[in-house]
Amino acid sequence: MRIEAVSIFPDYFQPLELSLLGKAREAGLVSFQAHDLRAWTHDRHKTVDDTPYGGGAGMVMKPEPWGEAFDQLIPEGSEPVVIFTTPAGIPFTQGLAQELAKSQHIIFACGRYEGIDQRVVEHTKTRAKVLEVSIGDYVLNGGEVAAMVMIEAITRLIPGFMGNAESIVEESHSDGLLEYPSFTKPASWRGLEVPTVLLSGHHAEIEKWRKAQQLERTERNRPDLLGYL
Ligand code: ADE
Repeated sequence: MRIEAVSIFPDYFQPLELSLLGKAREAGLVSFQAHDLRAWTHDRHKTVDDTPYGGGAGMVMKPEPWGEAFDQLIPEGSEPVVIFTTPAGIPFTQGLAQELAKSQHIIFACGRYEGIDQRVVEHTKTRAKVLEVSIGDYVLNGGEVAAMVMIEAITRLIPGFMGNAESIVEESHSDGLLEYPSFTKPASWRGLEVPTVLLSGHHAEIEKWRKAQQLERTERNRPDLLGYL
């Protein structure tokens, strides 16, 4: 999978060099490149923003540098996925991460200020599969951290990326419920005991207990997932 990001702060993506993603890159499963949007400006000040038509607070990112960036980054005849990070987008979910993990080429367009001129989104649809995506109902200063969140969630689902495929199947959200609580040795710690059923060796009982825990946790922490809200 080829992943790219366009941003005015390409250095933000430095942490992706580390840890598991770094290893996946070394193994040739993923490539990543961050691009500086200002490389596609032509004025002395490398201007990327301007005042909004219709008035209002803040600045809007100008369309021209983005247009030139995509002219260069979207290969003729290919159809990558271009993700515009925005709090006004569709929600990023485990299901969307699973879909995106099948992609060959994803380009993240990280907006700053009050967002990117909307015509960039419309124009990019002529040569890419375009998604406007939000990572949650809160506002960040820019899309870089949001892109990193999505990159981590997507790349760990690439076949061969994680050592233990089962831990992906069992984790929170992959079946619409939160994960059950986990315990390890020692069986007794600071007066707190591991639930006895987990020490029993009865697989069917353990399964039943875990399912009940999943439901209880989901009801308590995320009733919306059960359709209660
Ligand atoms: N940019 C600013 N806030 C964001 C959010 N919640 N999700 C994605 N991109 C953003």
